[in-house]
Amino acid sequence: MMNETIQTLLTRRSIRSFRPEAIPQSTMESLIQAAKFAPTAMGLQDRHFTIVNDAKILDHIVEVAVKNGATFLKGHTPFYHAPSVVVVSAPENSRYGRENVACAIENLMLAAKALGLGTCYICSVLPGLQDEVIRKELKLPENYIPYGCVSVGYPAEEAPEPKPRRTDDVTILP
Ligand SMILES: Cc1cc2nc3c(=O)[nH]c(=O)nc-3n(C[C@H](O)[C@H](O)[C@H](O)COP(=O)(O)O)c2cc1C
Repeated sequence: MMNETIQTLLTRRSIRSFRPEAIPQSTMESLIQAAKFAPTAMGLQDRHFTIVNDAKILDHIVEVAVKNGATFLKGHTPFYHAPSVVVVSAPENSRYGRENVACAIENLMLAAKALGLGTCYICSVLPGLQDEVIRKELKLPENYIPYGCVSVGYPAEEAPEPKPRRTDDVTILP
């Protein structure tokens, strides 16, 4: 069965090359709105969105990630020069913080796809994002810690065809 929503789900791909133009504020607001409507455990909405449009802050995150042990191939740019990165955080002691963040990021990525934008979920920089120095720089709410982020921008490339889906990963009972 096919409809527009399922088509969006089936055609979203990670985008790793972006045009430099900024995302209009109203478009970013739509993405954040979509992310806010993702489910959260017990409906607490206890996650926070930080929109980073400043390349200097992104460079600093990478620098701190490397200082904390992240390794990147020579020339690799972890944020892929996206004009914006949305960092999603949750309370450090939250039992389902990671899950809540992941749901929000997926909603944001699908909304972006529906609006003609590209995204890439990025965790490689977590050793930087989770450092105290960066948490301060991001002005996160007290005791919030980033569990993921997503690069957002207008795609500068056609995404490659998706890999064929596995066929051994469904069990039907009985
Ligand atoms: C939790 C998570 C973390 C990810 N971290 C990174 C990352 O650090 N860098 C990156 O380029 N892609 C990252 N990705 C994107 C995956 O590599 C990508 O989703 C996967 O290869 C499938 O490709 P597709 O998104 O085009 O279907 C991450 C995806 C997930 C779900």
